Amino acid sequence: MSNTFLFFRALASNPLMVGAIAPSGPVLADLITREVDPSDGPVLELGPGTGVFTEALLARGVRQTDLTLIESGSDFARVLRLRFPEARVLRMDAARLGVSRLLGNASLGCAISGLPLLNMSARKVTAILIGVFSLLRNGGALYQFTYGVRCPVPRRLLDRLGLKASLHGRVLRNFPPAQVYKIVRRKRLTSREGGI
Ligand SMILES: C[S@@+](CC[C@H](N)C(=O)[O-])C[C@H]1O[C@@H](n2cnc3c(N)ncnc32)[C@H](O)[C@@H]1O
Repeated sequence: MSNTFLFFRALASNPLMVGAIAPSGPVLADLITREVDPSDGPVLELGPGTGVFTEALLARGVRQTDLTLIESGSDFARVLRLRFPEARVLRMDAARLGVSRLLGNASLGCAISGLPLLNMSARKVTAILIGVFSLLRNGGALYQFTYGVRCPVPRRLLDRLGLKASLHGRVLRNFPPAQVYKIVRRKRLTSREGGI
């Protein structure tokens, strides 16, 4: 089954979960992975779908063994396991990251997200952010793309969680055009502080 067919089949069966009318293009994949440095540690990818961003991460030198892919779609997860056999592919809701303990005390270098946050409840977005930032090392960032005109995480939620977002870049050569936001902690963690 081709990746494009797989994507459109998933879109037809659950449009809100897929949240896009086409897989991301190479220019967006390049932008969202631009600051990834393989020496910073393992990388988490949320909502990889068919693996467009995953390919870009590998092209930047991230090893498959340093990749954890969190995907809730069963067909996507199956194909990701075939395409990236050495990566850790977890078929789960990204909102369960904080409670699942599947990643233990991981200290991740960064996280890349293709999740359709605008289609999710505030409660779910909150759980995702808490889970991701409990796993990110000091100075680690979450890169999130959106088709919207502003950051898909509302300012008051960022404030509540001690996070801040900045526009990382815009891509017109994508269908639809997209923006990438970089989300980081406002303050660096002290050695005694854990988590978000
Ligand atoms: C907009 S698509 C992005 C796919 C790919 N990253 C790309 O850019 O082409 C959103 C992806 O997030 C997945 N997804 C949606 N909600 C999810 C959740 N709660 N947990 C994990 N994956 C989720 C969908 O199955 C889909 O693969």
